[in-house]
Amino acid sequence: MNLKGKHLIDPNDLTLEELDSVFTLAQDMEKEPAKYENLCSGKILATLFYEPSTRTRLSFESAMLRMGGNILGFADANTSSVRKGESISDTIRVLDGYSDIAVIRHPREGAPKLASNFSAVPVINGGDGGHQHPTQTLTDLLTIKNLKGEIKNLRVALCGDLKYGRTVHSLIKTLSRYEGMSFCLISPPQLKMPSYIKEYVANEYNVEIVETENLEDVINEVDILYMTRIQKERFFNEEDYLKLKNSYILTRDKIKDSRSDMLIMHPLPRVNEIDYSVDDDQRAVYFKQAKYGVYVRMSLMAHLLGVI
Ligand code: NCD
Repeated sequence: MNLKGKHLIDPNDLTLEELDSVFTLAQDMEKEPAKYENLCSGKILATLFYEPSTRTRLSFESAMLRMGGNILGFADANTSSVRKGESISDTIRVLDGYSDIAVIRHPREGAPKLASNFSAVPVINGGDGGHQHPTQTLTDLLTIKNLKGEIKNLRVALCGDLKYGRTVHSLIKTLSRYEGMSFCLISPPQLKMPSYIKEYVANEYNVEIVETENLEDVINEVDILYMTRIQKERFFNEEDYLKLKNSYILTRDKIKDSRSDMLIMHPLPRVNEIDYSVDDDQRAVYFKQAKYGVYVRMSLMAHLLGVI
């Protein structure tokens, strides 16, 4: 498997075989971390975050540090030369002289793709606007693989802000490539999954999709319930957000008749869409999911740097 020098902008940049190789190494990295502690010594990761982040940036940084590498970058574009009007293409041209691999999060859709056109080192999309979030999808898929054994024949509910939520855009696109997957899309009418994505997965992979506004309609029949936050920062006005912010609130009572082996997932951060009382339920796996994000990012970077 040679992924050396590749960029990861869209989840489709990796074949199913390549995804599998990333997951297999991630599983070994979790089992035997000591084997990998010097894998990236001398390597530098640049984290260019033009939008807030906790998990994505810190899990990338933790991943690189756990492999013996170093990190540099900014977590707030206001403290960098972006403030002076520097373009992303100039920033990346300079940065690739300072680092061996870069992860970029940007509010504008397509910005990491643009940066990759100017970069001599691998660029990873850490989330671009309401578009895609491929490394969250790697995290989600590793979670499913670890906890379900395989990614196959699963009924998956995606719930919440399916319009602006980039995690669910990348997730449905990628899960559709696996055998026997079907989807329930649960959202208010204003926050439905964009048609271009639904049409793409339906035409390309022939997957079954049902749409509903009511979580209760499907909550007892799904293998995975993937909750998402209403993406406040993507709304054009506060009023529209306030109308929709309490659309779905998962409580212990709502899952009392759900499958005992259902996985409740969430990319985090959570606002109010999952009540804290659900955290103790053995089906709630979102904190485990966040932890798997480190191993999958270690494995991804090792692949793109060509050090394994
Ligand atoms: C997500 C994101 O940034 O899109 N967070 C993350 O990376 N885990 C989800 C979100 O912000 O709602």
